[in-house]
Amino acid sequence: MSVKQPVLPILALAFLAACGPSAEEQQAARDEGIRFARADSTAQAEVLYDPAGFDTITWASPDSALSRGTTVFLYSCRRCHGSTGLGDGDLAQEHGIVMPDVTAAGWQFAGDLEGIRHRVFVGHESEMPNWGLHGLPYRDVDAVARYILTRLRGE
Ligand code: HEC
Repeated sequence: MSVKQPVLPILALAFLAACGPSAEEQQAARDEGIRFARADSTAQAEVLYDPAGFDTITWASPDSALSRGTTVFLYSCRRCHGSTGLGDGDLAQEHGIVMPDVTAAGWQFAGDLEGIRHRVFVGHESEMPNWGLHGLPYRDVDAVARYILTRLRGE
């Protein structure tokens, strides 16, 4: 009799497991959770973004902005965007992240310093980090936006 006792709970567990969500359903729920969290972070960054934050930034020379922008890009952006901005960075390739080519003719932010600063700060709910929430200062956002326009696009 005592041997049979565990059978019922085990059967109950097996029944629950059979009725629970499949591995695919669990993965889909996790993906949905990540999407939701990313959309939420992007919305938070949007609330924090203040274009006036750039008004007081001064650079000793255009070169000093670009030199800082190079450092920021190589450190924080290159692994996804690739060293020339084509979107072929090793991290992006490893994770199959679909990347834009920021050097493309007719790029949506061509000549648009404001637009680039905004996108860098706020990010995007795909895989573009919300840099404003990660503490990237406005000065670095400005520097890297200038770097993209001047050095990567030659504008
Ligand atoms: C984890 C990968 C990753 C990193 C790191 C990353 N990005 Fe992105 N970035 C993306 C993805 C994915 C997109 C496309 C999302 C979108 O539509 O904006 C994107 C979009 C952009 C865009 C808009 C391009 C367009 O055509 O829509 C800019 C500008 C940009 N990133 C700049 C940067 C800068 C500057 C850094 C570093 C401070 C950086 N990114 C770091 C993944 C990344």
